[in-house]
Amino acid sequence: MIWNLGSINADNFYYLRHLPQPGETIAAEEFRQGLGGKGANMSVAAARAGARVMHIGAVGPDGKWAVERLLEYGVETQHIHMINMPTGHANICVAEDGENSIVLFAGANHEVNDRIIGAALAEASPGDFLLMQNETLGQEFAAPTAKTLGMRVVYAAAPFEAEVVADVMADVDLLVLNEGEAAELEEVLGQSLEQLPIDDIIVTLGADGCKWVSNKGKSEEIFPAYPVEVVDTTGAGDTFTGYLVAALDRGLSMQSAITLGMQAAALMVMRKGTADVIPDLKEIQDHDFDGDLSE
Ligand code: ATP
Ligand code: RIB
Repeated sequence: MIWNLGSINADNFYYLRHLPQPGETIAAEEFRQGLGGKGANMSVAAARAGARVMHIGAVGPDGKWAVERLLEYGVETQHIHMINMPTGHANICVAEDGENSIVLFAGANHEVNDRIIGAALAEASPGDFLLMQNETLGQEFAAPTAKTLGMRVVYAAAPFEAEVVADVMADVDLLVLNEGEAAELEEVLGQSLEQLPIDDIIVTLGADGCKWVSNKGKSEEIFPAYPVEVVDTTGAGDTFTGYLVAALDRGLSMQSAITLGMQAAALMVMRKGTADVIPDLKEIQDHDFDGDLSE
């Protein structure tokens, strides 16, 4: 089972010719709204991948729809708290080439506290996964608590703060971050990824795929991405990580989990939107990828 300490946002999408420059006003070609937040996206991705997922988080009174939608998508919601703060939201600009820029308002996401996290994790079992990102608070409490309980800890270090990685890394089994974040982490810590006390590190490389650094196995492997036509890259990383952890939870090897994550992410970049459009396993199987999902 996966316990995901994560954000829940209302995503407002503005599709534009290009991303706005300082001082520029541009009219959007299209506007959409949906469920998002790195946490919610990963919960939905893991549930779509067939895992049992318990989301730990918070929304405001205006966020009842988000909790109902997570439930519809197969995510367990008993540990999502209703707090007297607005639900988090994200204003997402997407350019014609699929690139994005995002303004976040944390709202209720930053009201998730150690008491809420502790009460949820008290119900977890050894061997379960704790998954975290950096749009909530409490990672510094959650990671050691989960470790003490015999859980496996995965940290998707976005939005990136090197200090938070440094604070939790002693208790993290698997770290997922993108190329720019990996370079910044190495610079801030003055250590290479290979020197960090983390068994497995996955560096996502956008259209170039990803790199798996296994410090336990003292090996490094590159996985090329599936070539697809890009429409909107928002949520691709979240979809990758949700699928990856769900596959590991199901007992798949790291190689197979990465393959499945990259297939889900490849479908995702061809779609507009975030949690609402994350593909399920059937869509991946129907897409006729080369990879073998039968392990
Ligand atoms: P985001 O924050 O936009 O969700 P990220 O920076 O966390 O993304 P990326 O490295 O951009 O993560 O992408 C995650 C994964 O999604 C990649 O490892 C790759 O498998 C897939 N992906 C991303 N962009 C593309 C693309 N243009 N074509 C094919 N696959 C892609
Ligand atoms: O990674 C994509 C997510 O980042 C969006 O869903 C948005 O809510 C922001 O948190």
